[in-house]
Amino acid sequence: MKFLFKILMIFSCLTLYSQNISQKVEKLLSQMTLEEKIGQMTQIDSSYLKDPEDITKYFIGSVLSGGNSYPNNNEGMTKAKDWADYIDKLQNYALKTRLKIPLVYGIDAVHGNQKVYGATIFPHNVGLGAANDLELSEKIAEITAKECKAIGAYWTFAPCVAVSRDERWGRAYESFSEDPIIVSKLGAAQVKGFQKVGIIACAKHYLGDGGTVFGTGMKGLIDQGDTLVKDEKDLRKLYLTPYIYAISNNVKTIMASFSSVNGLKMHANKYLLTDVLKKELKFNGFVVSDWKAIEQLPGTYEDQVRDAINAGIDMVMVPDNYINFINTLKKLVESKQVKIERINDAVRRILTVKMEMGLFEKPFSDRTLIDSVGSEEHRKIAREAVRKSIVMLKNENTLPLAKNLKEIVVVGQKADDLGSQCGGWTISWQGRKGNFIPGTTILEAIKKSVDKNTKITYDSQGNKIAKDTKKLPDAIIIVAGESPYAEFMGDRTIPTMDFSDISIIEKLKNVKAKKILVLITGRPLVIDDFKNIADAILIAWLPGTEGEGITDVIFGDYKPTGKLPFSWPESDEQLPINIGDKDYKPLFPFGFGLTY
Ligand code: GLC
Repeated sequence: MKFLFKILMIFSCLTLYSQNISQKVEKLLSQMTLEEKIGQMTQIDSSYLKDPEDITKYFIGSVLSGGNSYPNNNEGMTKAKDWADYIDKLQNYALKTRLKIPLVYGIDAVHGNQKVYGATIFPHNVGLGAANDLELSEKIAEITAKECKAIGAYWTFAPCVAVSRDERWGRAYESFSEDPIIVSKLGAAQVKGFQKVGIIACAKHYLGDGGTVFGTGMKGLIDQGDTLVKDEKDLRKLYLTPYIYAISNNVKTIMASFSSVNGLKMHANKYLLTDVLKKELKFNGFVVSDWKAIEQLPGTYEDQVRDAINAGIDMVMVPDNYINFINTLKKLVESKQVKIERINDAVRRILTVKMEMGLFEKPFSDRTLIDSVGSEEHRKIAREAVRKSIVMLKNENTLPLAKNLKEIVVVGQKADDLGSQCGGWTISWQGRKGNFIPGTTILEAIKKSVDKNTKITYDSQGNKIAKDTKKLPDAIIIVAGESPYAEFMGDRTIPTMDFSDISIIEKLKNVKAKKILVLITGRPLVIDDFKNIADAILIAWLPGTEGEGITDVIFGDYKPTGKLPFSWPESDEQLPINIGDKDYKPLFPFGFGLTY
């Protein structure tokens, strides 16, 4: 009886709480002018914010710092405290408006709060898919959320719940897997992790971003292309499932995709954005556009704004010419091409999310969390994620290595390159090579793992070892793979290793010592004679800053448990290749992974 009474109490409190919020929202909405409403639907990128006073003047609802935007022009080397000062300053401009509606600051905290110098950088989603550990993924989102809260960025454009079906896509690494159920569960875990700390999550990019057909994308490749499906059942099974999981975990925002479904741009797809998402699935958060995406719609700018808003976009990531957007939408409402009911619906959703996530009570950064950004405690979890993400594809009496060998030679520029380890979306949009942030490279991790008498020789290009083959080391660790990229910049006709790495591997072909290949990659790659390149092959994906997670596996402190979240093709002719295909004959199948 007591238990029942308790449940009843909780339930009535929750309903009271939500009624309370909806009453507050209705009250606020009734006081708002059209300008104030349209302001809430406007998102500006910080690099285009001409004058912070514009936040007050135009009642702006949101500011973001996209891929290459920073509080100052120091190329992204901005620490947490400076980010917090900057975002709090902009918040103060929003709170100077008549109704004091707080702005919500958006950031791509997609593998840690990557834009903040010194933040913990976790493995990209492809690695989390290989680890496939729900609790860990939720924990990572929680930690990332704390590193967002510390700077006052209460909205992350994550998790990406793309179901990537073609390795030629430059965003394959942002996807957990080709399997919609793995994507759904890990995506939901991250939604929970972010939002339990008070950070608004954003499931993206709705709908079918990972299913575009090669040749229909930008520059005739794949990103932002067309997801062609024979019938809606396939579309739902493959791409809608992750959103059903996210909505059932109360995700507050969803980002529309640049891509199209059967030739119709998602940003103008009223059936999928409104009828399916908001009516059928009862999504009661708000839909944000992608970066300048409405301008890819047909027609004039007026047509684009009209069609996007009427289709169900609630907030527009303009992100540059915001005054033009505001004036255009105002005109459309005054000429009744966009009904005021649509505006009210969008603003109601935005205000509800802001209220539910506590922004009205606590609009500023949480400075008590500043010291946790990039802390040892956070990095420990990142190292655990790296360990669990490693997939061992081959091991012929080689691994684990002893820690007291006489000599290990390390080869490959990527062995000493945090930028390659982290990949795209790290400080800057495309990422960058080099050791520009705090972390542990693979070379440093190897040196930390072995006994003091073990000699570690770094032969970046492999020239030395290829020449004097008389005195062979006990083992050669070759680190090779892809250099950083993001979005369409990573689209490939044939995804493969950097040619500089291929030539290094060529050089070492006849060297008789035990060879271990550590592959840094955002996706399965097409590599000639891949199986015979080394005696052991570890896929490290894009592990982030904690390189010791890789040496935990190499030196046996952790037995590899990672499983392939994507099918590994034999050749590019097989692409796209996914589990369940007819005559499915990959080089390594989905779910493959060896252990000790
Ligand atoms: C980008 C991406 C999206 C990201 C947004 C803001 O173009 O498509 O994933 O969240 O812009 O940076």
